[in-house]
Amino acid sequence: MKALICNDNKIEMVEKPIPEIQSDKDAVIKVKVSSICTSDLHIINGSVPFAKNGVVLGHEFVGEVFEVGNGVKNFKKGDRVSVNCETFCGECFFCKRGFVNNCVNGGWMLGCRIDGCQAEYVRVPYADNGLTKLPDNVSYEQALFVGDILSSGYWGAELCEIKGGETVAVIGAGPVGLCAMQCAKFFGTEKVIAIDINSQRLELAQKLGFADEIVNPQINNLPDNMDCVIECAGGENTFETAWKIARPNAIVALVAMYEKNQILPLPQMYGKNLTFKTGGVDAVHCKKLVELISNGNLNTDFLITHKFPFENITDAYKLFENKSDNCLKIAVIS
Ligand SMILES: NC(=O)c1ccc[n+]([C@@H]2O[C@H](COP(=O)([O-])OP(=O)(O)OC[C@H]3O[C@@H](n4cnc5c(N)ncnc54)[C@H](O)[C@@H]3O)[C@@H](O)[C@H]2O)c1
Ligand SMILES: [Zn+2]
Ligand SMILES: [Zn+2]
Repeated sequence: MKALICNDNKIEMVEKPIPEIQSDKDAVIKVKVSSICTSDLHIINGSVPFAKNGVVLGHEFVGEVFEVGNGVKNFKKGDRVSVNCETFCGECFFCKRGFVNNCVNGGWMLGCRIDGCQAEYVRVPYADNGLTKLPDNVSYEQALFVGDILSSGYWGAELCEIKGGETVAVIGAGPVGLCAMQCAKFFGTEKVIAIDINSQRLELAQKLGFADEIVNPQINNLPDNMDCVIECAGGENTFETAWKIARPNAIVALVAMYEKNQILPLPQMYGKNLTFKTGGVDAVHCKKLVELISNGNLNTDFLITHKFPFENITDAYKLFENKSDNCLKIAVIS
């Protein structure tokens, strides 16, 4: 089969054998649609220290179950599924508490430490935990982002402990930020302020009804006194913006993955009593997210702006990296 690997900070298409079941809890999925995540770019740029050189890239996808191990109870050949970007055993200290990103037997493995989905087939360990069945009224494309960026936006909003009535600032109106805004609304926040330097993305956030106000810091003053801040930009100064615009005792949720160290100026922050929450998504709500798409409570239709056949995935990477042609997300069709 054809697969896209990252070798010494460069991507290349190679020929690989179709993956086989290695443990009885594995499934092999025939990839139908995959996407490219900004985190894939971080791997190529060498800023994911635990990523393995030569791995097949990709962790955002949907497909059809091709083969299951003897220990897989809930899935069979032919099932339409979305796949969690995280592999988790469900039994360790962290899994039992829902912290699946830190599963001692998994975490972010696919497309990082084991072969991922930018291939014709992919092996998914702990398939009963990592797969979510798709109802007939949810298309592959609608479910494409459930296991990664939609989970990440939902997680960012969840970290804010929204009780209703808050004003939430979301920094970054990229795919992850847009998902976070939509989920913050879903949790009952009163007002969402979207912050980005890309005016087209800001306008989209407003048009979709996810943002009540939009702020381009190159043109407008930043807001202040935010009840919660979700940082989904990962820009040069966006961590600084996040804590500065937060009101005292706010929660600042850091969903972005930084390529550089950030400064935590504790003397300046003293007395502001902020709570920072950081890290990789605990993608534990995939079933719920599929239901919310199925019953029309969450919308993912706006995310796919471009489609490429899998053979042309290297062109897709170029477009995605340069954010050309107002690209948000790409559906790579197999
Ligand atoms: N925590 C997780 O588990 C998780 C999961 C998926 C993605 N991510 C990360 O989330 C981040 C966002 O992903 P994305 O796909 O939406 O990325 P993206 O690059 O498409 O979006 C980032 C947005 O931030 C904006 N931005 C950049 N610098 C800015 C600045 N100085 N001020 C205001 N806005 C600025 C950009 O214009 C862009 O629209 C990435 O770092 C990605 O790696 C994290
Ligand atoms: Zn990702
Ligand atoms: Zn575990």
